[in-house]
Amino acid sequence: MQDQLNRILEEAKSQLEKATDKGQAEELRIRLLGKKGELTQLLKGMGKLSPEERKSTGQLVNSVKGQIETMLEDKFEEIREKAKEAQFKVERIDVTEPGRRPKLGAKHPLTVTMEEISKVFMSMGFSIVEGPEVETVFNNFDALNASPDHPARDMTDTFYITEDVLLRTQTSPVQVRTLLKQKPPIKVISPGRCFRCDTPDATHSPMFHQIEGLVVDEGITMADLKGTLDTFAKQLFGPDTKTKFRPHHFPFTEPSAEVDVSCFKCGGKGCRVCKGSGWIEILGCGMVHPNVLKVGGLDTEKYTGFAFGLGVERVAMLKYGVDDIRLFYENDMRFIEQFK
Ligand code: DAH
Repeated sequence: MQDQLNRILEEAKSQLEKATDKGQAEELRIRLLGKKGELTQLLKGMGKLSPEERKSTGQLVNSVKGQIETMLEDKFEEIREKAKEAQFKVERIDVTEPGRRPKLGAKHPLTVTMEEISKVFMSMGFSIVEGPEVETVFNNFDALNASPDHPARDMTDTFYITEDVLLRTQTSPVQVRTLLKQKPPIKVISPGRCFRCDTPDATHSPMFHQIEGLVVDEGITMADLKGTLDTFAKQLFGPDTKTKFRPHHFPFTEPSAEVDVSCFKCGGKGCRVCKGSGWIEILGCGMVHPNVLKVGGLDTEKYTGFAFGLGVERVAMLKYGVDDIRLFYENDMRFIEQFK
């Protein structure tokens, strides 16, 4: 019996040493200590022994059982520790490793241009107002003194949503909204998106941006218009910039003008940017037509004003030397990141 016990103990020792995972150790526990295990069987067989033998053998069996239990416990502990260590290794975080920088985006060149232009006007005391991209035909055309048969109203030029609602073709309807909401003195600009049924090419896009300006007060004259826009051009394109006001026609201004600036690239000598003329057209403007002022219920004998509208894409293309308007809308990061 003693031999048997010793053999069991030795075997348990050597097998436990070899066991490397929980499954193997558990298997060994069942084989030795389980209901049908070797030790249990031995204990069962003790009934045949004499009382003295039973006592001494019992002690021996219990001691061996105790030793095996301790060994098993140690083994389980060892396996648990090893598993933990392995897990730590996998989950290890090296806090000294340099972090990965999040990729920073860049402001879109049109946003940069709009912010720059807005800043110049804000420094001259203008505030910024906004209007919706979906407008009424009344605000976009009627209230702006466009005749019922004005070509811009045509379905081929304008995106209509219903007979009375459209995607604004210009930021000028914000003039109407402002006149209906605000009393003079009015001095606002309004940057925003506009839409026209244009087939995209290098200089046309069905969606583009404008910045509208409106100044209304007592005693506003064409000199205020010229002074403001000349100052603006010098701030945006440099102090040597000259401006030229050419007569033009817009339904909502009278008189109306288009403004050219001396070419900031060649200084007026003539180059590729100004197509050899030395001048670059940048905006439309004029004295607000009395019919528009009347929409705001203003006394046109007392109040006068000027307005202007500027194409953001055009300015951005000139400023940055971009030769295709479509580049602005492709959102190719390689393009956009150049304007950081
Ligand atoms: N709305 C005009 C356009 O889209 C631009 C414009 C010209 C706006 C003269 C004005 C202005 O306010 O006075 O072509």
